Amino acid sequence: MRVLVVGNGAREHAIAWKLKTQNPGLVLFIAPGNAGTEQIGENVPIPQTDLARFARDNRVDFTIVGPEDALAAGIVDQFSASGYPIFGPTAQAARIEKSKGFAKRLMRKHNIPTATALITRSPTAALDYIGSPLKCSMPIVLKPDGLTGGKGVQIIEDRQVAQAAAAAMIESSKGREILIEECLRGTEVSVFAFVHGQQVSQLFAACDYKQLNGKMTGGMGAYSPPSIWTSQLAQDVREKIMEPVARALAAQRTPFVGVLYAGLMLTNEGPKVLEFNARFGDPEAQVMLPRLKSDLLRTM
Ligand code: AMP
Ligand code: GLY
Repeated sequence: MRVLVVGNGAREHAIAWKLKTQNPGLVLFIAPGNAGTEQIGENVPIPQTDLARFARDNRVDFTIVGPEDALAAGIVDQFSASGYPIFGPTAQAARIEKSKGFAKRLMRKHNIPTATALITRSPTAALDYIGSPLKCSMPIVLKPDGLTGGKGVQIIEDRQVAQAAAAAMIESSKGREILIEECLRGTEVSVFAFVHGQQVSQLFAACDYKQLNGKMTGGMGAYSPPSIWTSQLAQDVREKIMEPVARALAAQRTPFVGVLYAGLMLTNEGPKVLEFNARFGDPEAQVMLPRLKSDLLRTM
């Protein structure tokens, strides 16, 4: 079998390594790949717009998409339209990651536990909200709507500083919304499932290390399983978060197929969603995929 893995991160190295370990006969292409994937398969440095042509010319049987930008740009739609089998959500389903406003509204509509938030593109509304102790308490979390590689979030203690930061974020968002969100306290955990429409696989969990000198990074290391991840918690997250969001996306005719990733805060009131992603986490994939007992290729 000939498989193409799209991406250039450690996540794609972990995916390629798992595929090759479980299926030594596999012919693997990684686009564009990295120094790690070069030791497992053939790195192909071609732009995303040429991947479908590459898949056709090289008789690729199956394509696996690692990163969110390719999913948001519609690579799954493009391959599917040409009849090439591919693993990952469509651009419409990947909006659960691409647009935080879309995700927040979907969660509200379906009673999925998450932080309260104001979604706005109005500087006046933002200043009024942050300025009012009745409407929000400090610290407050500011998030732009689009993809930011996990680095777009600001957590701010001071109301005036937060007002200035919100105004600046709205200005630089060029007409897109921002979220002004309640700061959740607790232990953070990343939860993953293979999802096919309304079907949700067994859940698996990891924690990553996010903050460097008080600033957000995309994650600098991870461990799995976390000791806080009990079967009771897994059941709770499945029933209150993963299955409802899978049902909600299917109900609006944008069913999710791929790896669904819920970034959760385990609060005193139970698990609440910080964000959804439409893919494996990086670095989480590096510690979870070695633990996976099922055949990754068959599952995908
Ligand atoms: P996001 O871009 O939404 O994935 O957020 C990146 C990181 O910011 C998360 O992994 C959390 O560590 C932190 N974060 C996001 N939203 C909140 C929140 N409402 N309360 C506390 N921390 C948050
Ligand atoms: N580790 C965070 C992410 O993959 O978004």
